[in-house]
Amino acid sequence: MDDLRSKYLPLIAEAADEAALEDLRVQAVGKKGEISLKMRELGKMTPEERQVAGPALNALKDEVHSALAAKKAALADAALDARLREEWLDVTLPARPSRQGTVHPISQVTDEVSAIFANLGFSVAEGPQIESDWYNFDALNIPGHHPARGEMDTFYMHRDEGDNRPPHVLRTHTSPVQIRSMQEHGAPIRIICPGRVYRSDYDQTHTPMFHQIEGLAVDKDISMANLKWCLEEFAAAFFELDHIEVRFRASHFPFTEPSAEIDFRCSWVDGQLKLGEGDDWLEAGGSGMVHPKVLAAGGIDPEVYQGFAFGLGIDRLAMLKYGIPDLRPFFDSDLRWLKHYGFVPLDRPDLTRGLSA
Ligand code: DAH
Repeated sequence: MDDLRSKYLPLIAEAADEAALEDLRVQAVGKKGEISLKMRELGKMTPEERQVAGPALNALKDEVHSALAAKKAALADAALDARLREEWLDVTLPARPSRQGTVHPISQVTDEVSAIFANLGFSVAEGPQIESDWYNFDALNIPGHHPARGEMDTFYMHRDEGDNRPPHVLRTHTSPVQIRSMQEHGAPIRIICPGRVYRSDYDQTHTPMFHQIEGLAVDKDISMANLKWCLEEFAAAFFELDHIEVRFRASHFPFTEPSAEIDFRCSWVDGQLKLGEGDDWLEAGGSGMVHPKVLAAGGIDPEVYQGFAFGLGIDRLAMLKYGIPDLRPFFDSDLRWLKHYGFVPLDRPDLTRGLSA
């Protein structure tokens, strides 16, 4: 028995892995293992011999079993240690070596404006940037001879020689989306349409491609008061102030009657713009009650329905809110500018959390 003990205990202690350990278990205490065979010999012994050999063999068997269990646990611990060493991860490393890419101020402001109007019950509509002459002009009560056509510095699409159909245009404003949306959804309707527009113009505050956001609300009892409230709500939320006074200044647009220029109360202190207080007014866009002819062009009965519309410049809103002095670099794709003025991609504008948090 001492031979068996001194044979198996060191072998178990040195077993390299679980397979080797299992072999040893079979050899020693398996059905035909050496110790099991010895136990069978007990039957051939005299009672006196058995009284000594029985407990001793049982003790040896227990000893081998617990040595096997201890070694098994030790091997499992060692395997786990090895895995932990192998799969080691430095959690102090940044997830990415550097932040790649930012959200362009135009996208940011579009998202901010959309979040605000969504909160007021407006949905977002879109339309094509290459637009028919009818949607861009006629349907908006700007007939062929109208001076507004000249004022808009329109880009006309190429026409084949002999093709006398009216040329398509790069849309000069987002207003044609009003018509498309009315045709598609009818009344009542509440939409905003952000998007690119095009005019042949280029200086510090004009680029041939720029961005507008159009608003339209049509129902049976819509008035200028609703328009003014919406614009005041919008201005305060957008500039993240408690209140901004909005002023209507009489104006003229072919697609609205009456028409009003939208001004926000502001002041200029040492060349710095301060919104919401002061004696100055900042032009923010155009608006008015939708002209009956425009409702009719959209397939809506002007005897039953009326509505308001407005148009704001997204680029201008971005320049004002984020203090960007020149419009041209917006579209230069200069990485240094984008890094400086861009926004963190995962911070989505959200009215409850803060628009530009
Ligand atoms: N479409 C006009 C422009 O581009 C802006 C505008 C003015 C839109 C008044 C409107 C509005 O919806 O009611 O200059």
